[in-house]
Amino acid sequence: MLNFNFHNPVKILFGEGKVTELPQNIPADAKILMTYGGGSIKKNGVYEQVKKALANYNVLEFGGIEPNPRYETAMKAVEIVKNENIDFLLAVGGGSVVDATKFIAAAAPYKGGEPWEFIAQAIPVQSAVPLGVVLTLPATGTEMNKNAVITREATQEKMAFYSPHVMPQFSVLDPSFTYSLPKRQVANGVVDAFVHVLEQYMTYPVNSPVQDRFSEGIMLTLIEEGRKAISLETPDYNNRANITWAATMALNGIIASGVKECWATHKIGHELTAFHGLDHALTLAIVLPGFMNMVKERRTEKMVQFAERVWNITEGDDMSKIDLLIEKTDSFFREMGMLTLLSEHGIGLETIDKIVERFKSRGDERLPLLEDVTLNEIGDILKQRI
Ligand code: NZQ
Ligand code: ZN
Repeated sequence: MLNFNFHNPVKILFGEGKVTELPQNIPADAKILMTYGGGSIKKNGVYEQVKKALANYNVLEFGGIEPNPRYETAMKAVEIVKNENIDFLLAVGGGSVVDATKFIAAAAPYKGGEPWEFIAQAIPVQSAVPLGVVLTLPATGTEMNKNAVITREATQEKMAFYSPHVMPQFSVLDPSFTYSLPKRQVANGVVDAFVHVLEQYMTYPVNSPVQDRFSEGIMLTLIEEGRKAISLETPDYNNRANITWAATMALNGIIASGVKECWATHKIGHELTAFHGLDHALTLAIVLPGFMNMVKERRTEKMVQFAERVWNITEGDDMSKIDLLIEKTDSFFREMGMLTLLSEHGIGLETIDKIVERFKSRGDERLPLLEDVTLNEIGDILKQRI
């Protein structure tokens, strides 16, 4: 029987022109710090549109947030928030800008020592500066969730923290803001969202037909619209809108409600980014087929359901269905332009050993979500992907 609480306070402003509604959603007397990345918003006109909407506000800016955002960079913004008495943060960009902004929001009022500790030691965050989002890259779901992933350059660590205090107050999702994305980033978004669904679906049955069919619907949409997005010469509004909404729905808590989650593929993938700087979604496309192969004897029931309902694989016994499922999933990632083997990125055994060591040194308490995946299996999963 399902048993869960669901609460998601993020207001979604979805559609073309929604950025003009920023003033209705930010207090008139707010002192805003607008955060952004490496400059894409200045090339595609999003910056001008946001500035125009905020014409009557006191706005400071902080640019230069990197993909896989750095702790060291975000800490510079924390100083600005403190020194300038900023009382609202507006993130304008992709998942990296939003995640860095969530961290800045939580780190500025943090009363402990070095803020990295609330990430590394999972210390609950007590408060945060309110924040809003203007999203330019559909992928992570961060626009409607409480998660943020931060990289510490000094130690090559990439870790997540979670707090209801960093939930955005609102998120502007204008699909036309994604037109300037390079195809590689569109593909990243589709694959990231697809794997988000799987980490909440491809586990164990708990009598959750609504969540299951919702998950399958999101995956079918991502396959259909992802293929379309890659093949189209010029971006199409409806196509980008469907990808955007699918990505948001993939990680906002709805499909996770009451079901068994397992974020092993993400946890292993983060290590590949930490050591080699690979795009987040690419790491998932590399790890997932090996992971599926590793768990197929335990997770047979949900994997067969996935094979039948999403890839329409109906012939053969359970194991042959699953083998074809793994092949089709891997081929889909390759179709989206991803090189899904470690050797295709010059990565070999040395990195695998370092990753296994890192998991071991953190101890079991760092792996609460892996559950049916042992530390030794992490090495075996990666070895399959050389
Ligand atoms: O920095 P700018 O110049 O803006 O360029 C970015 C960046 O180079 C560019 N871009 C974004 N919007 C654009 C654009 N270029 C042209 N037109 C636009 N409209 O795209 C590049 C990648 O951006 P990034 O924000 O890094 O990508 P994404 O949204 O995929 O975010 C990835 C980060 O999110 C984390 C990942 O680990 C990674 O650090 N994740 C966050 C999650 C969460 N908070 O819930 C869950 C995910 O599983 C994931 O771990
Ligand atoms: Zn992800």
